[in-house]
Amino acid sequence: MIYSRITGTGGCLPGDPVDNAALIAAHGLDSSDDWIVERTGIRSRHFAPAGTAASDLALVASQRALEAAGCAPNDIDLIVLATSTPDFIFPSTAALLQDKLGITNGAAAFDLQAVCSGFVYALAVADKFIRSGSHKRALVVGAEVFSRILDWQDRGTCVLFGDGAGAIVLEASHGNNGPGIYATALHADGRYRDILAVAGHVSGGQPIGDPFLRMDGQAVFKFAVKVLAEVADEVIRAAGMTADQVDWLVPHQANIRIMQSTAKKLRLPIERCIVTVDRHGNTSAASIPLALDEAVRSGKIGAGDTVLLEGVGGGFTWGAALLKL
Ligand code: UT7
Repeated sequence: MIYSRITGTGGCLPGDPVDNAALIAAHGLDSSDDWIVERTGIRSRHFAPAGTAASDLALVASQRALEAAGCAPNDIDLIVLATSTPDFIFPSTAALLQDKLGITNGAAAFDLQAVCSGFVYALAVADKFIRSGSHKRALVVGAEVFSRILDWQDRGTCVLFGDGAGAIVLEASHGNNGPGIYATALHADGRYRDILAVAGHVSGGQPIGDPFLRMDGQAVFKFAVKVLAEVADEVIRAAGMTADQVDWLVPHQANIRIMQSTAKKLRLPIERCIVTVDRHGNTSAASIPLALDEAVRSGKIGAGDTVLLEGVGGGFTWGAALLKL
């Protein structure tokens, strides 16, 4: 039986942190540090400087993941990159990353778009490629520059997001009950397309529609709390395990109150939930691999730990993965 296992993680946060007070002052927002901290848990975030694209952040995160895995760029035969803020309409950010990494072995490379669930989707897809035996070593990346799609006059959204990238190296593994991805579950429901969207595009050289992120925060919040609890149960059952066997929860970092709710439903103490939203804000597809990388590098999460990853985002999309590190 072939499994896929994580052999290296990496992350990249651009520039210096921007705290709530600085963000409010920079854009003259009618907001406060107290409101943002109390409602979301966010204290600061990072923004990519002008001219820095998702592939630049992905490059740094990927180099760190490759170094941690002890492998060279040309050892990779598959790149799956999750982003909603690609460098271009095409070529894919994954192809740009492949070039920047100097991969010349013809490795397959493509982008995947599932917004804040993007990394869980990308991990599930790469896992299936590796399990099928068609590929041996994948780079799975979440990379975002959400600052490019924020309306700085919309206080209900612009205080929530940040830029960053996270990456993992996923390799074929043959061990039974050893390290590996045990189960994944992915879902979507397009009927909820309007509650979180950037409903714009380019046509005939002109921007069409609204180029900014719009969100019905309360509707998203309620939906997220419900489906994250369901998909956590689903993936734990699919792995033939029980919630008390989960050592760590690494959730999408959107709002501390959503994370607290999920941890409570799993009967997991909040100390067992990796929290980076206070310092990263919501980095969409990058948030889970960034949180995982931070937890692994700090020694919190280590070899043999059972970890539940889960995310929810625009579309609506949601998903989870249960793995042993
Ligand atoms: O990554 C994808 C998943 N995304 C999420 O999971 C986000 C889910 N949603 C949320 O996290 C929360 O709904 C928010 C943090 C976005 C909003 O928190 P809330 O507790 O749901 O607040 P609300 O939208 O009900 O707004 C309450 C009040 C409103 O004022 P009124 O109408 O009561 O006078 C808002 O206009 O807070 C106001 N408000 C703000 N006040 C100060 C909204 N944004 C701000 C702000 N500063 N930045």
